[in-house]
Amino acid sequence: MNRIQTDTQHEIVRQLVMAASTAALYAIDHPQVIRLCNAAHSSIKAAMGSEAEIVMLAIGDELIMAEIPMKGSYYSEKLARLLKARGIGHLKILQPVTLAEIRQLIVTISRVRPGGVDARSSENIRYGTVEVRHSDVTGRDIAGFEDLLEDELATLVNTFERIAERQPFEVSGITSIVSGFVGAIRNNFNPLLALVPLRQMDEYTFTHSLDVCVLNLVQGMSLGIEGQLLTEIGLAGMLHDVGKIFMNASILNKPAKLDDAEMAHMQQHPRRGAEYLLSCPGIPRLAVLSSFEHHMQYSLAGYPSMHSDWQLALPSQMTMISDIFDALRTRRVYQTPKDFERIESLLLEKAGVELNPSLTRNFLKVMKRLSVEL
Ligand SMILES: [Fe+2]
Ligand SMILES: [Fe+2]
Repeated sequence: MNRIQTDTQHEIVRQLVMAASTAALYAIDHPQVIRLCNAAHSSIKAAMGSEAEIVMLAIGDELIMAEIPMKGSYYSEKLARLLKARGIGHLKILQPVTLAEIRQLIVTISRVRPGGVDARSSENIRYGTVEVRHSDVTGRDIAGFEDLLEDELATLVNTFERIAERQPFEVSGITSIVSGFVGAIRNNFNPLLALVPLRQMDEYTFTHSLDVCVLNLVQGMSLGIEGQLLTEIGLAGMLHDVGKIFMNASILNKPAKLDDAEMAHMQQHPRRGAEYLLSCPGIPRLAVLSSFEHHMQYSLAGYPSMHSDWQLALPSQMTMISDIFDALRTRRVYQTPKDFERIESLLLEKAGVELNPSLTRNFLKVMKRLSVEL
């Protein structure tokens, strides 16, 4: 059958990919996944009308739907890759396909189930297999956060817009995104890959915040931290620099070294950030602390200046490492990015003085391992 309009085909494919990518980050019963599955089911039902079936073929990176190759579309290529990686070369959807069957299809192509592919045909969804190479099902090609979803990106951008307007923001939206990062990293997705594409899309503060979040998660997971505490450590990284919105923009963006007065102004950002976060409902205490403490240094020689028996929170010390690492590896107006060896020696110089030495060594060990895996 080929009577389905091309734009309808693209819409169906887009919804399937969105649902699968979201299901890979969250659980299948997450409200956002349920909404996307419902939308995909409705679109498929509406598009089929009186037609008996929709057939999709995945050949190479190309998806053929209703006998028409869907060339040049990001979503169609993505769906073709997802199907192929699950060993599915041929997918047939029959009338009257149910919502439960569409949800099962999403589970199958998102590969959220531990134990691998579960491509069993049901009454109205039939799979034809292709030979699968082992490397296709190792999980490296899962819908990970290299393709942060439109909805998630919108949530993040909205949150940062609220922050830029100094308005209180809803922490639950970004909390579920941080949990999604944890899921993607657990699914063998190399978190270092996430540090690249986002950077190209948005300005420094936004991407730096996400990078520090991911790097904090990597550190936390390598230390065996899980659950709520891990999520809070990620959030602490994401929000550590929110106080910069209260800084004078011309000083913040000055493409040169700051003078003493400008430096004194910038040194207020940890305190201003902590005060702001305290005014936002539901913000974890660790995020407030990380904002306040992330420039205090391991030796307490940094700022804000506190009494000598001040005890730094562990997540703040992790944030310091992620923060400095990300700043060193990033191209700025006044700085060229440094390679890993140079960053390693700089961090080791700071270990025991500016940075917690054990955490720094652990961080470098994990980074080396991840870099080798890339
Ligand atoms: Fe900072
Ligand atoms: Fe920072």
